[in-house]
Amino acid sequence: MNGKVALVTGGGSGIGRAAAVLFARKGAKVAIADRNAQGGAQTAAMIDGEGGEGRFFAVDVTSEAQVEGLVASTVSAFGSLDCAFNNAGITHPSRLFHELTLDQWNEMIAVNLTSVFLCMKHEIAQMLAQGRGGAIVNTASGAAIVPAPGQPHYTAAKRGVVGLTTYAADELNNQGIRVNAICPGMIDTPMVASWRESSPEMAEAVIAHMPGQRMGLPEEVAEAAVWLCSDEARWVSGDTMVVDGGMVCR
Ligand SMILES: NC(=O)c1ccc[n+]([C@@H]2O[C@H](COP(=O)([O-])OP(=O)(O)OC[C@H]3O[C@@H](n4cnc5c(N)ncnc54)[C@H](O)[C@@H]3O)[C@@H](O)[C@H]2O)c1
Repeated sequence: MNGKVALVTGGGSGIGRAAAVLFARKGAKVAIADRNAQGGAQTAAMIDGEGGEGRFFAVDVTSEAQVEGLVASTVSAFGSLDCAFNNAGITHPSRLFHELTLDQWNEMIAVNLTSVFLCMKHEIAQMLAQGRGGAIVNTASGAAIVPAPGQPHYTAAKRGVVGLTTYAADELNNQGIRVNAICPGMIDTPMVASWRESSPEMAEAVIAHMPGQRMGLPEEVAEAAVWLCSDEARWVSGDTMVVDGGMVCR
């Protein structure tokens, strides 16, 4: 990653923070985007504290103007954009299909799917303008493989992320831009912590069924994302990598 510039959305927490820190440890300069200013600034401080270069940008990834500005600001700060990890996302409390409201559907699609389209659109334009390729990784979910109970809109959005990924990989494979998706299983982040608190018995039952009877760690997902962005993965594009300890096989 030496000399490369990486952009991480949702970098103020969980998987995105772990990836931003790992990109920096591998030598990349890292643009951290999040709508959570406190978390984003903390991630930048963690990177700076380890002697790396991280810069936080307060961005709502559902806004095209803000995403376009984010890519421009990244290039202005660091000179280029080589790797992008489109990872910001949300969940909602579980709902049966017929109880889901249109507002809930629209918010989920905006944050978990439209944002990935917007980020990819502006990242790809920048990478094409640079003319030396690039690597994009999008965070989908195990829900893109096996539906997440009570999350019809999350399941649909994450399958959409996989669709965008494979489409873009095909369109861009003669331009040196690789595009992959990762599908984390249940990972111990603030997103999951609130669900554990609200449904402790269900959470314990789910975790007991998981390989090793534990959740994954954000750092274990970050390793996959950074590897997919690295030159070691130069022959990998259009892949949907499941990072769940083998849970999906059960
Ligand atoms: N934790 C899991 O078990 C798990 C499993 C599968 C997939 N995922 C996916 O991994 C990604 C990261 O999740 P996490 O577990 O690290 O969650 P997290 O809540 O710890 O981090 C998500 C980050 O995204 C940011 N974000 C949300 N909406 C945003 C917006 N509109 N604009 C800018 N930033 C925004 C949040 O502020 C937060 O910092 C998400 O896409 C999630 O769907 C998580």
